[in-house]
Amino acid sequence: MKTEMVDGDSSIPLVGLGTWLAAPGEVYTATKNAIEMGYRHIDCAPVYNNETEIGAALTDSMKSGIVTREQMWITSKLWNNAHAPEDVIPTIKQTLTDLNLDYIDLYLIHWPVVHRKEVVIPKTADDFIPLDGLPISDTWQQLEKAVELGLCRNIGVANFSINKLQKLIDSARIKPFANQIELHPYLQQNNMLKFCWQNNIHLTAFSPLGSFGRPDMIKQPNEPILLKDPIICAIANRMNISPAQVVLAWALQRGTSVIPKSINPLRMQQNLRANEIYLDEEAKQQIAGLDKHYRYASGGFWTIEGSPYTMKNIWDE
Ligand code: A2P
Repeated sequence: MKTEMVDGDSSIPLVGLGTWLAAPGEVYTATKNAIEMGYRHIDCAPVYNNETEIGAALTDSMKSGIVTREQMWITSKLWNNAHAPEDVIPTIKQTLTDLNLDYIDLYLIHWPVVHRKEVVIPKTADDFIPLDGLPISDTWQQLEKAVELGLCRNIGVANFSINKLQKLIDSARIKPFANQIELHPYLQQNNMLKFCWQNNIHLTAFSPLGSFGRPDMIKQPNEPILLKDPIICAIANRMNISPAQVVLAWALQRGTSVIPKSINPLRMQQNLRANEIYLDEEAKQQIAGLDKHYRYASGGFWTIEGSPYTMKNIWDE
């Protein structure tokens, strides 16, 4: 392993398996294959609708002796409709039941966005609760309680801006272990990288490959395709590796963990091996020039007409 952790914690394996859009019926085999080939970190969330199958794959892999619970790192997340203090612990317990686990290694607040309890995916402005109506600090106190109860070993957030992280740090008893955000050469977020380094917060890169497997309905027209970028492809050709390995190696060398989603065994292998690849200075400089501050996951779901959430107040930029 040629990378170092940002936070000094050596326990989060830097290449994890992403499971968003890994369909039920496929994700059991993908998770079992992943564990067999050496993945020790699986990124989950109840809103992906596949935690029960992932749980079955984890259970079967442990039963057959391929791994022990302690060797695996499992992340899951609190969905936007369960921020109310009384809902947090029961929601974590449900995830533990679905994953068939006694504890979660890392539990994240999925978005700094709140929905009413009965709303999984919002359709109207009334489906939202503004953040000042149900502050993150109240939800965070319940995550802290979950740590004390032994339900989670580490707690963190996802899709948080520097401002929101700072506010949380200022009020938290247990500091956030990680922020999981979209990171790739078109969205490098160097200020966030520096802030997390300074505050001992681990960063996990989601959509590290540019997320081109997303359904068309949530894509912008004419999205740039990261894995077809001429500079990424030229580096891949020069090094005789794949474009996916170029962008994953780049992320790992920045000290972030990555959670590329794949259900294809060859691509899963390729992604895991990115850990063994080292980009030289020339390649790193070329990639540094590709930043477009382009978000594939723009947050547009949360900014429908009349919503209290806007791009500006979600990202603070
Ligand atoms: P598949 O599951 O068929 O492999 P991201 O993690 O950025 O959201 O990207 C996920 C998308 O990238 C999925 O469509 C996945 O498809 C594809 N993918 C995963 N690994 C690779 C790879 N090594 N090369 C090309 N595409 C990949």
